[in-house]
Amino acid sequence: MSSHIEEFYSCLPAPIDLEETKKLIKDFCCRNTETDCKIVLVTSGGTTVPLEHNTVRFVDNFSAGTRGSASAEYFLENGYSVIFLFRLKSLEPYVRHFTGQAFLDMLETNKSGKEKRIVGELAFPVKQESAAALLPVLLRYQSVKETGRLLCIPFTSLADYLWLLRAVSESLADLGPRALLYLAAAVSDFYIPANEMPTHKMQSEAGPPTISLQLVPKVLEPLVNNWLPHAFVVSFKLETDESLLISKARGALTKYKHKLVIANILQTRKNKVVLVTTDSHYEIVVTQEETNSAVEIEAKIVADLKQKHDHFIAVSCRR
Ligand code: PMT
Repeated sequence: MSSHIEEFYSCLPAPIDLEETKKLIKDFCCRNTETDCKIVLVTSGGTTVPLEHNTVRFVDNFSAGTRGSASAEYFLENGYSVIFLFRLKSLEPYVRHFTGQAFLDMLETNKSGKEKRIVGELAFPVKQESAAALLPVLLRYQSVKETGRLLCIPFTSLADYLWLLRAVSESLADLGPRALLYLAAAVSDFYIPANEMPTHKMQSEAGPPTISLQLVPKVLEPLVNNWLPHAFVVSFKLETDESLLISKARGALTKYKHKLVIANILQTRKNKVVLVTTDSHYEIVVTQEETNSAVEIEAKIVADLKQKHDHFIAVSCRR
């Protein structure tokens, strides 16, 4: 690996429970590597960039984890085992359908709730009209849990994310072409190096702070070249200026030499993405009609990727 990346990691604070998490990842990979099994790493949500060691303030981004959490479900439905590397408190597979008050609104107390609460036996049946929405999701979740095909690993800061990404990548290396990386997290390109960060909360009495951010090296480079040279790696490219989208996506492919970039524009990301390869690009869209009947764009993206990944595995195995 390039000394630049090694040097960067040597100054990057690792999560305190990194060794325990590595063990979880290793055990998950061992359990899920029977013949023909495919494992996908889905990264999801945004990374924070702390401004202080004892972090009170940090720079964050918009990502809610919708893309990653929905995609993880569709990968599971398509037979993959899934490592879901997600920003703590962003959306998670299955739970994402019932966030906030919507979940409490699905429940009702029974008529004799008052007396029963006294003896601690209050029942919370699901409302008749909510059961139809809850049951299929619950059944899918339980089946995934029983088969042990989902491992969820939370991160918060950019440093946590980068260490965990490397740990998962190294564990997936043995899978060769059967590993798929789906890098949907919104990862900061900027950070404050540990030795330039104040220890304690910045004080307003000191006047307006001057914050100087440094560039984060793109870890796609060591990931593709060193950590997982035989895997099927898919990155995402987010832009706000449509005219840059395809050229930036293709630029990433040329530079990092991975398999595919899924390009999206911030405002339209829920109904349109462009799949960019070195020599072609095409759109995947969901129409308003499809959205009304609960079709999610991630279902289409994952179906398309599964085909590409299967083809990649077949070709790799013939070599
Ligand atoms: O979560 P949602 O609200 O549903 O939004 C989904 C999404 C818009 C976040 C998602 O679809 C998306 O586009 N994710 C990638 C956003 C992003 O970080 O783009 P980028 O252009 O900054 O980075 C491009 C690629 O480089 C990413 O795949 C990233 O994993 C990788 N990267 C980024 C920073 C870094 N230091 N090293 C990297 O390798």
